[in-house]
Amino acid sequence: AQVVRMLRPVVGGTVRMLACSSQTSVLLSVLPVRFQSAAPLHTQVKARFYSASSSEAGCPRILITGGLGQLGVSLASFLRKRFGKDNVILSDIKKPPDYVFCSGPFVFVNVLDLENLRRVVVNNRVTWMLHYSALLSAVGEGNLHLAKSLNIAGLHNVLDVAGEYNLRLFVPSTIGAFGPTSPRNQTPDLSIQRPRTIYGVSKVHAELMGEYYCYRFGLDFRCLRYPGIISASSQPGGGTTDYAIQIFYDAVKSGKFECYLGPSTRLPMMYIDDCIRATLELMEAPAESLSMRTYNINAMSFTPAELAQEISKHVPEFRITYRVDPVRQAIADSWPMSLDDSTARKDWGWKHNFDLPELVTMMLNLHGCDTRVARIS
Ligand SMILES: NC(=O)c1ccc[n+]([C@@H]2O[C@H](COP(=O)([O-])OP(=O)(O)OC[C@H]3O[C@@H](n4cnc5c(N)ncnc54)[C@H](O)[C@@H]3O)[C@@H](O)[C@H]2O)c1
Repeated sequence: AQVVRMLRPVVGGTVRMLACSSQTSVLLSVLPVRFQSAAPLHTQVKARFYSASSSEAGCPRILITGGLGQLGVSLASFLRKRFGKDNVILSDIKKPPDYVFCSGPFVFVNVLDLENLRRVVVNNRVTWMLHYSALLSAVGEGNLHLAKSLNIAGLHNVLDVAGEYNLRLFVPSTIGAFGPTSPRNQTPDLSIQRPRTIYGVSKVHAELMGEYYCYRFGLDFRCLRYPGIISASSQPGGGTTDYAIQIFYDAVKSGKFECYLGPSTRLPMMYIDDCIRATLELMEAPAESLSMRTYNINAMSFTPAELAQEISKHVPEFRITYRVDPVRQAIADSWPMSLDDSTARKDWGWKHNFDLPELVTMMLNLHGCDTRVARIS
């Protein structure tokens, strides 16, 4: 009874769930992490920290944090087609443009404000959270304080709320979670991770914390290491792979592009449709099919010179020049050139659809360019 009194102001709505099931286990399942004693045995703790999300029937109620960045709006639109408009709530600290505000539920969520996050989860009966707020690699190096706060303290809030309310939690990681001492070709899922950016360090922290909560408390944590994601509908958020998005705008607008990475800098990349589909497939995969909680996914790898060559098949007058930015070049040189994603392919059937030629055709089409491939003599 004392614990219930302590919980009431924190998780008012969820305490009512006690009536539905075995009192002890349900009470313990809603205990916020900080109220759980540090039981020494994994099995003891896991038994009290159920993932309601995996057993609940019907549609998930989904909250996307940081949803107004490069990926969130397209992700919401894809998930809304699958689960219904009202079951997917976009959130951010920015003001949404009209077309986003009119396309489905939107709320203010600052992941640094724990009470705000709890209120939104409770009031909207959220069962899945996809945590997209982050400061990306290049901007993170320019604002260490904010990167530490958003990418590390923000993640802690998200993990605690996901634990308190038994959410299924997805956190995207990145190729930036590897570093110069990781193998650079076909980097395996499990390998040395010593990144040299605060972004990478915070993503390794997120992977490990999520897996720890999963192992220790049974949190249904799922994570993918995304390559650089290429999309046409939104501006990139300050990552090292942003050139591969900007190049299409400039190719169509002016027929030329100045690249901040050197011509032979090879990085793994993925078209946004593949990235979003992979995310949903992982979220829907039965827990027993997952041999790990953090997976590499891979699609294509190319250099700026190879991308420019593919674009010039469609835009023959296109020219690329190079003015290397030493900060972003150093970051790119420390990242893998390709990822080994064989475990994702084996465990939950991951398969990409877009390689470089399809990507270029799609991006130029979306930018309104006539993409009949020019005859190269
Ligand atoms: N875009 C990529 O190529 C890529 C590659 C690998 C991993 N990822 C990961 O995917 C996720 C989404 O990436 P993105 O490119 O859309 O990022 P983005 O930088 O474009 O968007 C991040 C969003 O977070 C929001 N935000 C900032 N502070 C916040 C706060 N205190 N509370 C809530 N929201 C806040 C921002 O307003 C922004 O809309 C990130 O976690 C990123 O690390 C992205």
